Amino acid sequence: MAGLDWTYGVSTLRQWESADYEPSLPVSEKSNPLTRDIDQASAYSIVKMLQLCDSQMFQEEAGTTYQRLLSDQVVKTLMEVAKRVEVIIKDPQESCVVMSGCGTSGRLAFLISSGFNKALSQLNQSKVYSYIIAGGDRALLSSQEAPEDDPRLGVLSLKKVCEGKKRVLFIGISCGLSAPFVAGQLDFCLHHPEVYTPVLVGFNPAHQARDEPIQDCTFTFHSVVQRMQELAKSQKAFLINPAVGPEAISGSSRMKGGSATKILLEVAFSAAHAATFSNTPITYNGVLQHMKAYERTLDVTYSQTDGITTLVEAAGQSLRCSRHVYYLGWGSLALLGLIDASECTPTFGADYEDVRGFISGGYRELNNNDGPLTSLGPKFSIAHEDFLHLILPCLTDKDTVLLIYTHPDDVTEVGNMARRVREKTPNLHAVYHQADGDTAASLQQDDIKKLCLSTLKITWPREALASGTLQHMQRELSTKLVLNAVSTGAHVLKGKIYQNHMIDLQVTNTKLYRRATRLLQKLSACPEENCEEALLKAIYRVDMLTVEMTSSDITTHTCFARNSTKVVPLALVILLTSWSLVEAESHLKQQPIVREAVAQWMW
Ligand code: F6P
Repeated sequence: MAGLDWTYGVSTLRQWESADYEPSLPVSEKSNPLTRDIDQASAYSIVKMLQLCDSQMFQEEAGTTYQRLLSDQVVKTLMEVAKRVEVIIKDPQESCVVMSGCGTSGRLAFLISSGFNKALSQLNQSKVYSYIIAGGDRALLSSQEAPEDDPRLGVLSLKKVCEGKKRVLFIGISCGLSAPFVAGQLDFCLHHPEVYTPVLVGFNPAHQARDEPIQDCTFTFHSVVQRMQELAKSQKAFLINPAVGPEAISGSSRMKGGSATKILLEVAFSAAHAATFSNTPITYNGVLQHMKAYERTLDVTYSQTDGITTLVEAAGQSLRCSRHVYYLGWGSLALLGLIDASECTPTFGADYEDVRGFISGGYRELNNNDGPLTSLGPKFSIAHEDFLHLILPCLTDKDTVLLIYTHPDDVTEVGNMARRVREKTPNLHAVYHQADGDTAASLQQDDIKKLCLSTLKITWPREALASGTLQHMQRELSTKLVLNAVSTGAHVLKGKIYQNHMIDLQVTNTKLYRRATRLLQKLSACPEENCEEALLKAIYRVDMLTVEMTSSDITTHTCFARNSTKVVPLALVILLTSWSLVEAESHLKQQPIVREAVAQWMW
């Protein structure tokens, strides 16, 4: 936390750890005391709150309640996982590493597997990393929550990826230790130990793993974790589950959960690569130092608070007047833009057009399993050419455009794009990374700077430890932090958040259904059954629920909810007033700023 000079909330940094703080909730679902007033904060304060929340990732372990990122046990487990990866890299024909997850967890599995496969290709080695995302490749760019509930689908996709392999290191990522899709895969691995070694990555202590029955299954996530804990004693399974503190927006695991996933897996894989290709043994200190390099990434990034604040303000203004935010990126940093943009739909109930990402080279650069997805609809148009054809002609100065690149990228191309955009709007900004003392591209850089309203230059110290690959991964994390701040901050400024809760969440799977019910209880102080009843009325858009509706299971409700909007705000109005559904809907239409609407009914 070096460089943290902002005192607001420092005393509450560890408050969430207290045993009586929201005791019924796992860490990943708790609300963060630091951000309780984020909905009333200025852009600058929002960024500062996010910095504090992120700094909680690297807090030291205190007592025995929670393992942390830098805890002894976590470092040691990463070393063991790295050793398994090393064995696999040396035997690419018969073995592989598979990462799997839902939503952001699956997107990061894709990002990380792409990066490390590329590193192998550059060394003329065979690729060993594969990714699985619940809902398939379309979920890389759009929200697909329902498959998260399906353990069989998880198993089928795992079997497909591993066909013919004799040794598989399976890494299941579920930030909340909750996704049935991942639980099914881990359970399958536990039944086939001759081939599969399961690793679980998540951010709750084991006893907080979800214990809700999974349809047609004899196991729960919790029971799978218990079996893994038993096998972990003989290193036949591994659990990497430090707590990183509650998310800035409650339950939004795309933020710290995603960042910590990236850090942990990259540390393990980098150690394995260094051991295989540069004879650097996997050591405790090596792993620890690598983790600490990521801690410095936070300092380097947030030393640019003013620049990030400018971007949050610009993006917030665009969203407030129903205009758009566009990320135009190059290389893997562009992928972080695509990921950040895709998460706005499920997290903030946003339209896909509100925040959009584009990548230079389109699907050629993305290189995903299923190839181009453009035929799936307009939201899958992701190339810069698509931006130029579809978006640029209608661009106005109310839209915010963000160029995202790093020094080795083609700065000439960045300059050309900047000029094209500048012809339509002055609301152009740049985020770029450069190594300290790197002056090679500065002339072209100066030209780009002149075209931009603001330029966020992130300068990286030339550390002895930082290899080119580590530097690049740090730049990716830094970009993730900036973009998460931009999209989260902009939606907060748009009034999408109440206190630190996303009220307008989509209720499209069991986890989200439970979260919505809890939120309604918290905000209305009504009993659980009344809240669930109101939620169902809002989902089915009726004043009187039929027996068929009340007797259906959650999967049926969440399927139906896919086509309903403003479900939770509507349910809240129903609970807090005596209005009919039609009246409640019409009031919500008159007050589209959800935070203000809710505040109005709360008093
Ligand atoms: O249900 C949707 C979602 O909450 C996504 O926003 C998130 O990225 C995903 O689930 C994965 O959650 P977890 O990593 O906890 O399984």
